[in-house]
Amino acid sequence: MIIESISLKNFRNHQNISLQFHKGINLITGENATGKTNIVEAIYYLSLARSFRGVSDIDIITKDNEYSQIDACINSGDRKKNIRILITKRGHSVLVNNKKVSKVSDLSKVVNVLLFEPKDVMLFRGSPKERRNFLDINLSKQFPIYLEYMLRYEKALKQRNEILKSGKIDPELLATCTELMVRYAGPIINYRAMFVKDINDILIKITRALTGVKDKIEITYRPFVNMSSEFETQALEAFKRSLESDLKHKATTIGVHREDISVSLKNKDIGTYGSQGENRLVALALKLSPYFLIKEEERKPIVVLDDVMSELDKPHREQLIKFLRKFDQVFITDTKLEIEGVTPIKLNKAKEVF
Ligand SMILES: Nc1ncnc2c1ncn2[C@@H]1O[C@H](COP(=O)(O)OP(=O)(O)OP(=O)(O)O)[C@@H](O)[C@H]1O
Ligand SMILES: [Mg+2]
Repeated sequence: MIIESISLKNFRNHQNISLQFHKGINLITGENATGKTNIVEAIYYLSLARSFRGVSDIDIITKDNEYSQIDACINSGDRKKNIRILITKRGHSVLVNNKKVSKVSDLSKVVNVLLFEPKDVMLFRGSPKERRNFLDINLSKQFPIYLEYMLRYEKALKQRNEILKSGKIDPELLATCTELMVRYAGPIINYRAMFVKDINDILIKITRALTGVKDKIEITYRPFVNMSSEFETQALEAFKRSLESDLKHKATTIGVHREDISVSLKNKDIGTYGSQGENRLVALALKLSPYFLIKEEERKPIVVLDDVMSELDKPHREQLIKFLRKFDQVFITDTKLEIEGVTPIKLNKAKEVF
């Protein structure tokens, strides 16, 4: 799929901008604070109806305005779809070909964006939450049922934590919540394990293409209880064993909401032992991997790399650009990058709005 055009109204510093895009690499350049990230933020917003910057919708609306609007035209195969997103201070609405879409999973089918942002260089060094998010977002987009399991699991988890916090433990209610969590944890673990297994070979290939190095790379996922025919019994036992700690912490201390993945390079954990450059390239390889899991050409995601290039040395930058030419559509933001055969979209210094 590709985005053919986007128009933004009152979207951060862009009060009125229309841009045409094409297949392959789209390079967005401009000085600091000209609104490059804001453009890719709008592109990302098209896929999940939320910002990747973890902010509320209100922050997106240009100061002193009432609403933001994103209009985009998406081309998947021969079909064109028009998306309109209206963001107000009370929330947002999404129209695809003039029809209201309320489920994010339906929107993700129309636009799927894989994003690499500057903070992803910390993917393996930061908290497990970021790595779980990577699994959860990709699995939810690919399998809407996974999102259902996650939502049900999280609902049961919330109830269980409320019981633990209340100080008045109703053993029957606690057991019901635990049983529900175990019921949904089973399929969640199966999906996560399958995804990690599928992605391993891809990760190796991409890392090799980006680094030129043939070192051993491995991604590992360790579920809180191993999957087997005894899973439910073993998981219930694990919850029983952790009850004392749960009561002490007034929170559920084990479960799929606490799981993690790790990546090793030359048998050493990349987060702990890897250099900054290795962390950047392997995190990038991991974030790009889901692209190759999707077989149907028209469903291939749009790739967005915000501010990644400037930190790489020249040979790695060249290797990355060569690799990026394989993708259907890529957006790269940078202050001054030049790419052979690519005419950049140059943003001018925005007028001060604050
Ligand atoms: N709601 C808003 N209303 C108006 N302006 C905003 C709003 N939110 C952010 N901005 C402005 O957008 C500009 C930042 O844009 P952006 O982060 O896209 O810049 P950039 O081109 O990516 O810069 P850099 O090269 O530093 O990454 C800032 O000047 C900021 O003040
Ligand atoms: Mg930026």
